[in-house]
Amino acid sequence: MFDYKPTDGASKPQLYDDLCSAADALTRDEPDAVANMANVAALLADFLPDLNWAGFYRTLGSELVLGPFIGRPACIRIAWGQGVCGTAAASAQTQIVPDVHAFAGHIACDAHTRSELVVPVVRDGNVVAVIDLDSPTPARFDTEDAAGIERLAMMLAERI
Ligand code: SME
Repeated sequence: MFDYKPTDGASKPQLYDDLCSAADALTRDEPDAVANMANVAALLADFLPDLNWAGFYRTLGSELVLGPFIGRPACIRIAWGQGVCGTAAASAQTQIVPDVHAFAGHIACDAHTRSELVVPVVRDGNVVAVIDLDSPTPARFDTEDAAGIERLAMMLAERI
């Protein structure tokens, strides 16, 4: 049984240290990408408060395709460049969206979502996936969240 848990009262940097350590331990010796994404989605939901969706979209041709996640059923295919996820993929840049209603082209998968963070996963210069976090709280994500998920994405790049 795995028992990775966030430390009570941990600061945000500490939370991401713990999350990255748990993700490292779970994925280090496992070559299966789906298993690794599934376990990391579970960790994201466990470690990060105030999320209504957390998971992966993978690059397949000119689209992003839904991968392992925790949350309500979501849009399956997102064209490169569309929505927050497609923008992160096409630009290879993290997207912090404090108000999804103010993001032109935002794709609403869950009406409860108010803010969003999307981080590209880059391998050999190519965006192979994005990590998408949604929250029902406006402006839930800041630059510390982005830095934490970027560390996670870097670590996972060769493992998914
Ligand atoms: N809101 C995303 C779509 C994915 S769902 O949030 C799970 C977007 O605009 O790309």
